[in-house]
Amino acid sequence: MKKRKVAVLGATGTVGQRFISLLAGHPFFEVVALTGSDRSVGKRFGESVHWLLATDVPDGVADMEVLPTDGSVDADICFSALPTEVAGDLETELARTGHHVFTNASPHRMEPDVPLLLAEVNFDHVGALERQRRERKWTGSIVANGNCTTIHLSLALAPLHRDFGIERAVVTTMQALSGASYPGVASLDALDNVIPYIADEEEKVLEETNKFLGGWNGTDFVPAGIPMSVHCNRVSVRDGHTETVSLTLRGKPSVDAVKASLRAFRGRPQERCLPTAPQHPIVVREEQNRPQPILDRDAEKGMASTVGRVREDPILGTKFVVLGHNTIRGAAGASVLNAELLVAEGRVG
Ligand SMILES: NC(=O)c1ccc[n+]([C@@H]2O[C@H](COP(=O)([O-])OP(=O)(O)OC[C@H]3O[C@@H](n4cnc5c(N)ncnc54)[C@H](OP(=O)(O)O)[C@@H]3O)[C@@H](O)[C@H]2O)c1
Repeated sequence: MKKRKVAVLGATGTVGQRFISLLAGHPFFEVVALTGSDRSVGKRFGESVHWLLATDVPDGVADMEVLPTDGSVDADICFSALPTEVAGDLETELARTGHHVFTNASPHRMEPDVPLLLAEVNFDHVGALERQRRERKWTGSIVANGNCTTIHLSLALAPLHRDFGIERAVVTTMQALSGASYPGVASLDALDNVIPYIADEEEKVLEETNKFLGGWNGTDFVPAGIPMSVHCNRVSVRDGHTETVSLTLRGKPSVDAVKASLRAFRGRPQERCLPTAPQHPIVVREEQNRPQPILDRDAEKGMASTVGRVREDPILGTKFVVLGHNTIRGAAGASVLNAELLVAEGRVG
């Protein structure tokens, strides 16, 4: 297969760096352009980035020049790690100039013609791209990721909603500091502390989960309509969001049936053996004290959600803990997998 030329937008940031690391030596994609803000444009990537990953900057990338983010970007596919404030307009401009944009930013997520794609869960939502291209009169596309918390929650809920049906859920999150970008929360606010508020996050978890788990009827998205109570907290963890979930499933399945449903879950990325696909999108652990961020966030190279402590809940019926890496499966890795899937299915260009 001829490699597709790809750009990373917002390449110097927390998610941009993950993209660069995941795309090194990728069999489908070749990184040909990196963009940043005015702070970095015209500089070498190596001198403008504050590299945060334990692996080195991939060969050749440090010497690439950081470019402006506009329609002149010379790549078919753009992986966007742009901040919310600028992403909406810049991504629209790129799609209008024929680019296929896979974004982590929130502005386009809930639009009625933008697939909020979770590769194992709702491939049928890419049907919305026909509406998007027809109504917006462009040949490019925008495909969005959910936010980092919602992706892991929705991966864990997807098989349960498909196999049993979810009537209601209560979710409490413990979200890592890297989810707030770099430098994020000031150290004196973060250390020794839990912050029980993340702006707009609870609304996003509710809306995006219902879009992910809902349907596409050929014209519109049909939300899943699951009532949820969501509490979001920032905790002093570097990477990896942990979420406790209590929920009511139709038919009151046993704990073993719930675990079997989670363990059996597979999707198109696994059928197609895509390069970034985890073998097991959901890893179920039996230990009483798992999952934990430092032990489980890198499961399946950071591409799986790990579920543990599946047990009966005296009020809602079932409860468990789910954990996943926020900048890999929760951001850059999810976009790369979405792009692999759309390329493999012949849906981009
Ligand atoms: N962090 C996470 O875990 C996570 C997870 C899911 C989704 N997201 C979303 O992903 C996006 C990126 O998050 P992040 O944590 O990587 O943010 P970040 O660390 O603040 O990085 C932002 C990047 O955007 C660039 N940028 C800033 N202003 C720009 C402009 N006007 N034009 C072009 N580029 C500009 C920055 O370039 P310079 O360095 O040159 O200024 C930097 O490369 C956000 O929309 C965020 O909500 C983040």
